[in-house]
Amino acid sequence: MTRLTVALSKGRLLAPSIGLLARLGLTASTLDRDSRRLVFDSDDRRMGFLVCKPMDVPTYVERGIADLGIVGADVLMEADRDVLEPLDLGFAPCRIVLAERAGAADPTGGIRAVRRVATKYPRIAERFFAEHGLDVETIKLYGSVELAPITGLADAIVDLVETGRTLQANGLVVTAELAASSARLIVNRASHKIHLNQIEDLVRAMREVLPCG
Ligand code: PRP
Repeated sequence: MTRLTVALSKGRLLAPSIGLLARLGLTASTLDRDSRRLVFDSDDRRMGFLVCKPMDVPTYVERGIADLGIVGADVLMEADRDVLEPLDLGFAPCRIVLAERAGAADPTGGIRAVRRVATKYPRIAERFFAEHGLDVETIKLYGSVELAPITGLADAIVDLVETGRTLQANGLVVTAELAASSARLIVNRASHKIHLNQIEDLVRAMREVLPCG
């Protein structure tokens, strides 16, 4: 059996990803979320794990450094990489939305008044506004995006919403829904060909242990 490498997303996807792998018998007792180490082995050494920034997971998989990856659909939509996506893992469900200050949002639900949007997802935002024939300036931010409409940097944001707590805490409301997201398994194209049986077995095993499997 060939040793495969899996790129894992740091942050909210890491714990459920480790949980899923553990249910397949791929425990990694050295994979310590508080550690600064970025490379780990499964206890049986059948698998290697890379701990990456979510937006970098598709890059490691597309370039074959990792054979597989676990990453949010939001990141895949934004990164636009050439990777296979055989399985929706279903965990970490969230939405990509357009949100504005509660008082500023068009009461009729229109989005035409939006002129400047701050976002960690410029591609997703630009595609959405192009589809609606709207000329909107996109400002790329790297985090705490909710600050932008509060401070006047932008009049809206395109961002990920999971519980809705961050929007609410900052007086923002959802004015449009762009996409739904959840964790996805991704596979490098060449690895899939070379290790076909092994990867298909892994996908099957994952499907069986998923809550909706
Ligand atoms: C994400 C997102 C929102 C928040 C939404 O940010 O950009 O800010 O989570 O989650 P909620 O709906 O459960 O409140 P993240 O925690 O990744 O931090 P960041 O803004 O610093 O990137």
